[in-house]
Amino acid sequence: MKIIYHSHSFVEIELESGSILIDPYITWNPTIKINLEEMLNKKILSVVLTHWHSDHVWDTEEICKKANCLLISTFELSNYFWVEKWIQNRHPMHIGWEFDFWGYKIKLTSATHGWWVWNLKSWYTTIPAWVIVRAEWKNIYHAGDTGLTYDMKLLWDYDSIDLAFLPIGWNFTMWIDDAVIAAKDFIKPKKVVPIHYNTFLMVKANPKEFVEKVWEVWKFVEFWGSIVI
Ligand code: NI
Ligand code: MN
Repeated sequence: MKIIYHSHSFVEIELESGSILIDPYITWNPTIKINLEEMLNKKILSVVLTHWHSDHVWDTEEICKKANCLLISTFELSNYFWVEKWIQNRHPMHIGWEFDFWGYKIKLTSATHGWWVWNLKSWYTTIPAWVIVRAEWKNIYHAGDTGLTYDMKLLWDYDSIDLAFLPIGWNFTMWIDDAVIAAKDFIKPKKVVPIHYNTFLMVKANPKEFVEKVWEVWKFVEFWGSIVI
C-alpha cells in the first residue's frame, strides 16, 4: 500500500479502490506540494478528520462536495459539517471500536487537544481523535494533534502499528522528545513519520533531530513523499 505524506498533518492512504485523506490541508498550507485540482483528479473515497482546527479541516468542505466522498469524523464534528456546511455524505462515529467501510476500517481513539468547534452563530463540542486505519492487512496510526499520553501504550498492546504519524511541532502538540517516547516506549510502530512541524511560527521542530533520537532512521523524514508499507 502506498501512503503519501503531503505535509503538516495531511496524509493520503492510497488503496486500490481510491484514496483516504486524513486532515486534508491544501489551501493556505505554506508547505504543500499538491494543489486542490490535482487532488480532486484522484479517486477519493473519504476524508477522515482528527479534529476541527483549520490546519486540519481547511479543504474538507470543498473536497467532500466536489469529490462526493464520505466524511468520517466524530458525531459532533459530523453534525457541524451537516448543519453548517450542508455535507450529506457523512459517517458520524465516535471514540470506540472500528467501523468497516468495505475495504478499510477506521477506529477513533481520544487525543489530548482542543474540543471546541464554532462559527459566528453556533458552537459544538467534541473530542479530538487519533485515527487508526486498517487496510490491506496493515495498521496505520495518525495521532492528529496530541500531547503525550500513556494511552499510546494501548496501541502497542492491542493494535500493532505498522506505520505511525506523530506530531513533533511543539507548542500545540508533542515536542520531539515526547514523540520519541511515544514511538520507542509506547507505540513501537514498525515505521514512524514525524508530522505537524515547520508550517507556522509556533509549529517548529527539526525532524532530523527526531530521526536521530528514534531507533529507526526514516528516509522521508524531512520531505514529502511516498511511503510503501
Ligand atoms: Ni489542532
Ligand atoms: Mn494542528
